[in-house]
Amino acid sequence: MSKFYITTPLYYVNDEPHIGHAYTTILADVISRIKKIQKHDVYFLTGTDEHGQKVQEAAEKRGVSPKNHVDEYVKRFKNTWKTLNINYDYFIRTTDQNHKNKVKGILSNLYKSGDIYFDEYEGLYSVSEERFITEKEKEEGDFRQVKKIKEKNYFFKMSKYKSKLIDHIKSNESFILPQSRRNEILGFLNNELNDLCISRPKTRLSWGIELPFDKDYVTYVWFDALINYISAIGYNEDNDRFNYYWPADYHLMAKDILTTHCVYWPTMLMSCNIPLPKTIFAHGWWLMDDTKMSKSLGNVIKPLDLADKYGSDALRYYLMRNMVLGQDASFTLDSFEKRYNADLANDFGNLVNRIFILISKNFDDKIPNKDIFDSFDYNFIKKVEKLRDKAKEDYTNLKIHDGIENSISIIRLINKFLEEKAPWKTIKENKAKAGTTIYLSAEALRIGSVLLYPIIPEKSSLILESMECLPQDNTDFGNLKEKTSIKIIKNIFPRIEE
Ligand code: MSP
Repeated sequence: MSKFYITTPLYYVNDEPHIGHAYTTILADVISRIKKIQKHDVYFLTGTDEHGQKVQEAAEKRGVSPKNHVDEYVKRFKNTWKTLNINYDYFIRTTDQNHKNKVKGILSNLYKSGDIYFDEYEGLYSVSEERFITEKEKEEGDFRQVKKIKEKNYFFKMSKYKSKLIDHIKSNESFILPQSRRNEILGFLNNELNDLCISRPKTRLSWGIELPFDKDYVTYVWFDALINYISAIGYNEDNDRFNYYWPADYHLMAKDILTTHCVYWPTMLMSCNIPLPKTIFAHGWWLMDDTKMSKSLGNVIKPLDLADKYGSDALRYYLMRNMVLGQDASFTLDSFEKRYNADLANDFGNLVNRIFILISKNFDDKIPNKDIFDSFDYNFIKKVEKLRDKAKEDYTNLKIHDGIENSISIIRLINKFLEEKAPWKTIKENKAKAGTTIYLSAEALRIGSVLLYPIIPEKSSLILESMECLPQDNTDFGNLKEKTSIKIIKNIFPRIEE
């Protein structure tokens, strides 16, 4: 059994979770479930980024202390993940004492080793991004609230590791994925790389981790937050957990935080003599009317509203099926309803109804026996197996939307098989033959449900349990036991009426 360590970004607790946050977290959950079924020892980490200016300002606006603010808002993230069936192993908060100690330990070490130094700096500061930016970045990027600041601060010698980082990216094809993002970072590294300002004077920001070597400063929020990926698994503790799980297999995020993860984080790790993560994967953005969903634009969709109305599986399915991993996708209620009605209510829901009613009416609520297969049956089995193999391959290659499409094609194929074989007609003259058709359909439904389980765990589990099967069961034909008593499920995916 090999380990698999996957992470999401730590979300800012300056607002409620929205569809964008939900997407990355659901994606991590889906990949975790796929890997668990493949018998990996999975560790799935998520959490919240609780220090920094944005959070301090959000608290000030509400007239509460930052601590009260984060304690309240973190609950909204945890509740949302619960509703969306997110099965994480650990939820880290950057205000956890253990994390704060780890950050301080690393800061002390780097200060001692000389990779952190004190200097005066004058430059452009983006308040929205909470970092110093270059003139070039200002011209090319979408930075709001940029002002000139002259300040004494502590700096991390990021530039020292530039060529080592370029070598690493070039010699490790899957370090940054997709390819386009890798090229973007290599392009960024073609320019001069400045050292990283890693402190903020307390006169400007007090809500942060105090520097262990200067009580007048707090740590820059990114230097604090990135360390979560190692503090959560016991870095510098007296046990083997860290050595077992590290390096991370996947750091998942959207492309907005690519530079911090592909440049700041690896150079920090190099300075600490810690191996680099295996893959940093940046997916695209969910757009609303062609603009990125974000709190400041006020165009966010709350995942809980949709999950409450249509169920968490409906939302998980839509987000996973309608985004090609790596590309942007547009969120509309219309496309959500269409996708749900077509795939889940019509194809999947109707099939479940049909099979369960056939079994209940004609076979006393028990899975029928299989009799002799005809060439039509063999052909059906072959087609299902082909789609199953494709779906599995897609999942392994992180082509989640293709894996879903191939799995739902199995469901469509069963509907077609039933229509062609019409067991409701043949049952009168040849019960054994009709039983065989229904057995094969129920077995293919089981295989489809196992394949769709990582995406729609709640409803898939329901179907599988009702046939006394498990999501972990293998997907070979013939695993479904004849004569198993089934529990009838009614209207598993009710249609959304316009
Ligand atoms: N706190 C930092 C991350 C620190 S990680 C050590 C941060 N937080 S955030 O709340 O702004 O979350 C950004 C992440 O949320 C994105 O990288 C992505 O995973 C997710 N998304 C936020 N909006 C999104 C979309 N509109 N579309 C897709 N994902 C989005 O940055």
